[in-house]
Amino acid sequence: RKKVTIQELQQMRVAGKPIAMLTAYDYPTARACEAHGVDITLVGDSLAQVCLGYDDTTRLTLDEMLHHIRAVARGSRTPLLVADMPFGTYHVSAEDAIRNAVRIVREGGAEAVKIEGGLEVVETVKRLTQIGIPVMAHVGLMPQRHVMLSGFRAQGRDAAGAMDVLRSALALEEAGAFAMVLEAIPHALGTYITKRLQRAFTIGIGAGAETDGQVLVWDDMVGTWHGHQARFVRRFADVKSEVEKGVRGYVEAVRERSFPASSESYGMQKAEWERFEQ
Ligand code: KIV
Ligand code: NA
Repeated sequence: RKKVTIQELQQMRVAGKPIAMLTAYDYPTARACEAHGVDITLVGDSLAQVCLGYDDTTRLTLDEMLHHIRAVARGSRTPLLVADMPFGTYHVSAEDAIRNAVRIVREGGAEAVKIEGGLEVVETVKRLTQIGIPVMAHVGLMPQRHVMLSGFRAQGRDAAGAMDVLRSALALEEAGAFAMVLEAIPHALGTYITKRLQRAFTIGIGAGAETDGQVLVWDDMVGTWHGHQARFVRRFADVKSEVEKGVRGYVEAVRERSFPASSESYGMQKAEWERFEQ
């Protein structure tokens, strides 16, 4: 397959062919996205929770993010490579956002950045787009704001809230965003925004099946964990059970000395051994 471009993704939107986006945080997950037909690989700041053990995404630094973007970039050639801008790296000023986005592209190797926010980030989206850094917007539930929102809850479920999300989406497209993530909003609103946008394609996560594409967090998708599962998560595999089987089997085999077997050990010619023993 040829390198996935923004233009190809826009053609998929027009043709009604759903876009598959998936997160990756390291070289092997990037390779899996590369090998199995993912269109867009996202180094999401969900990295903070699922890989680094932080309670939320606000703790993640740009340097930590860059370390993982580089690993993903080394394993990624075909999918469009997008990376989240961590909390606080695009809020201080447009200049600061540009400086940080440039690092994500130049030092990290990402092709586009993703930014959470509505009208308040429109100017930043415009500036980044103007200097040639493609921006994917992210509206609806914005996990970097979970404290303000009093939890990770669905957004736009009343008329005023829905209007807020729609206004943000329209303004972000106008500002130049090439795509946007719609997170945890009513199905009907996800469909409506997707129809209203002229050019930007929508990637839903908990926004119904009519968005232009879907995204899931890698660890949710493969079932690395069996903890709290958001409504919009489907577990397509059960890695946790496989890991459990592997680790338990290994520890048990070590304890009972059934590992390693002789076929897993090195031999030595008898004569050499006798000479050694003398
Ligand atoms: O950080 C992330 O993984 C994300 C996706 C779930 C959209 O932002
Ligand atoms: Na994110």
